[in-house]
Amino acid sequence: MKYRTMGKLGVQTSAFGLGCMRFNGEASGDSVIDEEKAIRLIRQAIDGGVTYLDTAYVYLNKTSETVVGKALRDGYREKVTIATKMPLGHVHDRQSMEALLEEELEKLQTDHIDFYLMHGVNKEEWEKFKEIGAPEFFDDMKREGRIRYKCFSFHGPYEDFEYILNDYDWDMVQIQYNFMDIENQAGLKGLKLAGEKGIPVVVMEGLLGGRLSNAPDNVQALYDAFPVKRSAVEWAFRWLCNHKEVAVVLSGCNEPEQIAENLRIFDTVEAGVMDEAELRLMENVRKAYLDRTRIGCTGCKYCMPCPNGVNIPGIFSVWNNVSLYCADPAKDWGLKRIKENGAGADKCVGCGACEAACPQHLPIIDRLRNAWEELC
Ligand SMILES: NC(=O)c1ccc[n+]([C@@H]2O[C@H](COP(=O)([O-])OP(=O)(O)OC[C@H]3O[C@@H](n4cnc5c(N)ncnc54)[C@H](OP(=O)(O)O)[C@@H]3O)[C@@H](O)[C@H]2O)c1
Ligand code: SF4
Ligand code: SF4
Repeated sequence: MKYRTMGKLGVQTSAFGLGCMRFNGEASGDSVIDEEKAIRLIRQAIDGGVTYLDTAYVYLNKTSETVVGKALRDGYREKVTIATKMPLGHVHDRQSMEALLEEELEKLQTDHIDFYLMHGVNKEEWEKFKEIGAPEFFDDMKREGRIRYKCFSFHGPYEDFEYILNDYDWDMVQIQYNFMDIENQAGLKGLKLAGEKGIPVVVMEGLLGGRLSNAPDNVQALYDAFPVKRSAVEWAFRWLCNHKEVAVVLSGCNEPEQIAENLRIFDTVEAGVMDEAELRLMENVRKAYLDRTRIGCTGCKYCMPCPNGVNIPGIFSVWNNVSLYCADPAKDWGLKRIKENGAGADKCVGCGACEAACPQHLPIIDRLRNAWEELC
């Protein structure tokens, strides 16, 4: 296992951090956790050199922290740092924040949390966190030693990231990042900004939740043609660790074989380890994925709202994602939500209002029909 220094904190950490959100394969709050198996997986990772665990109050129907707490008995707690999170939906004032932290400490069977994150913050949520006094609460808890570092996790647009990062004295940030997301969310720009401020970055969804682990044919052909043979998973992690600003790469593993494989990979990766040919390969891999895009919808939403409730950018986004990553539409949460909300393309009456508003001049009506036929 390679260890890295966490920016201005100077703390040493394993490059591979175990994400405790996906045991049993489901990221949804409804999944039922196989406790014994999860404990075995967590301990396997720690025995292999992992020193960073990421969980959250809401993961796995609120059972993730409890399982992590059980796994960290018998001397394992002393070997790791724990990151967990405070969700805005469960707190509304000082008292409820205190109660939630207390519950988390109890579930985790510990007297302090190393990295305490405001969970999934965008600008609007950050303002709400400020209204309920979360920044002052984090300051006080750090002073009292109940938490060691003040952090936030992020999935919003770059502008929000810059605003939040500059608005408080953060110790660490957690962002979604991988070679397909360099221009999405915080992206490469956000990573660099945090790096300039010395704020360590923990990366989540390094494999896009597993979607980058099975390369489609046109991508696999590029990997196969490269003189050094590595799996798609290894290339993705190697590319991430090549960034000096990345302190920890989280990955949620469901099987002992995945942990073993990731332990092997993270034994070989360091910042600056990739040469020019490797970086060119990854740029070509990214382009090969993007070549699979079905429609050039930018998600600007100028076409919205549709008078008949069709979620136009949502449908196009699912269509593109399914094509890019050879995903099964039946398992796509975005599509499930669109159907549940009655916002499918079957509601389109062809009025044309959306096409008149689209700055990309997309033939929306025809493409919606194509997308719906393929997805449903
Ligand atoms: N704060 C937030 O808002 C937030 C959001 C997302 C994630 N997170 C945290 O970040 C962690 C990491 O994100 P993630 O779980 O999405 O990470 P990820 O590495 O992008 O995806 C994990 C998935 O990749 C597959 N995988 C992992 N190692 C593999 C290997 N060696 N070979 C083949 N497949 C492999 C597994 O999928 P299969 O089992 O399907 O093969 C696994 O479930 C989460 O567990 C969670 O703790 C936080
Ligand atoms: S053409 Fe269809 S999708 Fe577009 S605005 Fe009219 S009903 Fe909505
Ligand atoms: S206006 Fe066009 S590009 Fe923008 S979200 Fe709608 S379909 Fe996509």
